[in-house]
Amino acid sequence: MEKIIDEKKQGESLVLDPQKNAEQAIRNEKDGRKLYIESYGCQMNFSDSEIVASILANEGFNTTRQVEEADLVLINTCSIREKAEQTVRKRLEKFNAVKKINPGMKVGVLGCMAERLKNKFLEEEKIVDMVVGPDAYKDLPNLVQEIDEGRNAVNVILSKEETYGDVAPVRLNSNGVTAFVSITRGCDNMCTFCVVPFTRGRERSRDPQSILEEVNELWEKGYKEITLLGQNVDSYLWYGGGLKKDYDNASEIQKATAVNFAGLLAMVAEAQPGMRIRFSTSNPQDMTLDVIEVMAQYRNICKYIHLPVQSGSNRILKAMNRLHTREEYFELIENIRKIIPDCAISHDMITGFPTETEEDHRDTLSLMEYVKYDFGFMFAYSERPGTLAARKMEDDVPEEVKKRRLTEIINLQQQHGLYRTRQHLGKTEEVLIEGLSKKSDAHWMGRNTQNTVVVFPKENYKIGEFVNVKITDCTPATLIGEAVDLSV
Ligand code: SAH
Ligand code: F3S
Repeated sequence: MEKIIDEKKQGESLVLDPQKNAEQAIRNEKDGRKLYIESYGCQMNFSDSEIVASILANEGFNTTRQVEEADLVLINTCSIREKAEQTVRKRLEKFNAVKKINPGMKVGVLGCMAERLKNKFLEEEKIVDMVVGPDAYKDLPNLVQEIDEGRNAVNVILSKEETYGDVAPVRLNSNGVTAFVSITRGCDNMCTFCVVPFTRGRERSRDPQSILEEVNELWEKGYKEITLLGQNVDSYLWYGGGLKKDYDNASEIQKATAVNFAGLLAMVAEAQPGMRIRFSTSNPQDMTLDVIEVMAQYRNICKYIHLPVQSGSNRILKAMNRLHTREEYFELIENIRKIIPDCAISHDMITGFPTETEEDHRDTLSLMEYVKYDFGFMFAYSERPGTLAARKMEDDVPEEVKKRRLTEIINLQQQHGLYRTRQHLGKTEEVLIEGLSKKSDAHWMGRNTQNTVVVFPKENYKIGEFVNVKITDCTPATLIGEAVDLSV
């Protein structure tokens, strides 16, 4: 009914102003188009997809969870390991099948694979109409117009300034409780195995004011926890824009008002004392004591640090261009434990980096033994084209050796996980409810400050509530308990 009225109105104005009306007709046709967006890889990609959805919402696109009904399908891709790229290619095959039913559907590739492969993507995957790198999302309205007009569209230009600080993300697949807020983009660290500096470009920080505005808005909408995101959050430095490396040329005023990561954390914690604050990822060489001190100072900053180490061997750390030694890493761990005794620590580890020997591998196991991480993300080395390791080193650790070493570190992590979760037994901990437990509709799932998953019977509690839970049982990765009312 509404549609008929609209058409009538359109007809009327057609008589009055044909030019204006034609534009309106195009706009009406565009309004209500459906966008399907799928994300792979790191949290930053999921966060970027929310920026993309916001930019395209202004172009009249509504998101859908049904790929079959989409006018535009976007896949936000990851290049970190070869397997991640294979997953994306398989998804593109699926989209190809959908396109046979829905021939009008357009397909765009976003993110790191787009940046890495550029125009080559159009040749390699015939289904792809559009290739857009991580810094080019503001150009999407133009690029979509290009593909609407039947041309392929590519923009993979990396930026030294873009932070999307002025784009209010559309929260996708949100639980309404936890959200990501990006604070830096890119990475200048050049770890020799890593493709990120090539796909996401130079490191730049976002204006703290726009970060605070986003956090305040999330609080007003009922969100209870945010994760500040960056490839290397400790290297956050705002002095008015531009690359971190150009800071030396900043004016005296810029230097006097500069905000580093510890400063930003304190600002955010103070602005919303009821909001839980997390951050990821910390790089050992860039994490400073003042960050740990700020964490200890504010109750609402969660006591959890993701501190990737990648290897326990000094020789391998050096070959990876990780700019710290095993001993320096231990010192940092000691400082964290001293300042925040109950702080949880997790890691990323790569096994089978070129030239890794059994002795290097044993160093990794012994480093893990020393730290006894709460959790970990462990990977077999995957050579990435264009990285220094790929250019200078032979990928010489046989696949079966990588696999065996990976199994060994995963098994050890399981033991340490259990060691850590056992420490929580009998304690009563504050848990923020995020949603239903994966295994049971009668249980809630939430996390304690250390980021450990806690599962407990629902009773009358609700999503988004903070609940005190007494821990009665555990697995290597999950705590099991019962809510207790401390007020009685
Ligand atoms: N600083 C980033 C790291 C991104 S990559 C962050 O925000 O987390 C995530 C992890 O993937 C790395 O810490 C590393 O352990 C792993 N990784 C990166 N490149 C890899 C490669 N070529 N092969 C295997 N694992 C890799
Ligand atoms: Fe990659 Fe090292 Fe940066 S792992 S994202 S180059 S800190």
